[in-house]
Amino acid sequence: MSAFNFEIKIPTRLFFGVGSLERLGKFAGDLGKKAMIVTGRHSSKRTGLLYRVEEILKKAGVESVVFDKVTPNPTDELVDEGSKMAKEEDVDFIIGLGGGSSIDCAKAIAMTTSSGGKFWDYVSVGGGKKPKSALPIVAITTTHGTGTEIDPFAVITNLKTKEKVGIGYDVIFPKFSIVDPELMLTLPKDQTLYTSMDAFYHAIETFISVHASVFTDMLALDAMRRVVTYLPLAYENGDDLNARTNLAWANTEAGITLTLAGASANHAIEHGITGFHPDIAHGLGLCMTGPNFLEHIKDHIVEKLAIVGKEVFGVYEREKEKASELAIMKLREFQGIFKLNRKLRECGVKDEELEDIAKVSYRAMYRVVENTPGNLKESDLLEILKKSF
Ligand SMILES: [Fe+2]
Repeated sequence: MSAFNFEIKIPTRLFFGVGSLERLGKFAGDLGKKAMIVTGRHSSKRTGLLYRVEEILKKAGVESVVFDKVTPNPTDELVDEGSKMAKEEDVDFIIGLGGGSSIDCAKAIAMTTSSGGKFWDYVSVGGGKKPKSALPIVAITTTHGTGTEIDPFAVITNLKTKEKVGIGYDVIFPKFSIVDPELMLTLPKDQTLYTSMDAFYHAIETFISVHASVFTDMLALDAMRRVVTYLPLAYENGDDLNARTNLAWANTEAGITLTLAGASANHAIEHGITGFHPDIAHGLGLCMTGPNFLEHIKDHIVEKLAIVGKEVFGVYEREKEKASELAIMKLREFQGIFKLNRKLRECGVKDEELEDIAKVSYRAMYRVVENTPGNLKESDLLEILKKSF
């Protein structure tokens, strides 16, 4: 497909910028009289953010209830529990407050509450039903990773089958999103790192996706450049609002490219890994396999990698083959600064699990694998996993 053949559809109304949290009060009343705030157990309380959001809603005449049970890698059971509460409380809309887990959980709850049944009915490897509707969703992100505030995806894990699946339906595009970099100043160092690298991999994976266009390429390159420039600054000084703002924008750009062009197989592999090991951070998982993944498909993406080398890492090399190799080398170097070039076995992954991880990755995330140049099979995923072990 030509890079000049594309469609742009992002129905979310986005408020970006320092202080944009206050905009919530302007539109919340239009969404109904009662909201359910979906958030994690601790951080939004510790930072006072949950209280701030409740106050803004109150001033706007909106009542709110809180579902504060979200953990990293939220499960389908948690979604069903949240959906039960949303029905019992008869809420009009759902607010996802926090990182990707809270927002994804909010999206899944909004969909399951409105469409009925259980969450897993709407997963292709589960029941495969198409949801009819979702309650209106408001996303308030406190991290600069995932891109979920601007995409139609939600990632939910089934602990029984160890499948970590990303669903994608237009009904779960947030109606409103707030990206306020001020809310990200309290993000701890490890989360600063992992969420930024998640955004980086969204960008590079969509940049090489078979559905990439001139529009997504422009955003993806800019997102990669901003992560490489501003992550070291935000990592060094978490209060650097300019660095946080640039990372927040990189994440939003990468979220748009994710929506329009789709991630590629590195995300499929990572979902396989954290389906088996939910304690491994998503961004770390991506870094452990990312460079090996790019190397595996290098022959199919020479041109694109050469551009990444030149535009993102400042590689001066005319010969494209060489420039593409240097791009991967530079990425490894960049990850090395933050000790992200870890091996899977150092993070608890077992040799005997690799085949099953490849199998689940391929089955649960085949759509993402299909976005990848090189027509990858399950055996390719296994090879990348073995190299990263
Ligand atoms: Fe991701």
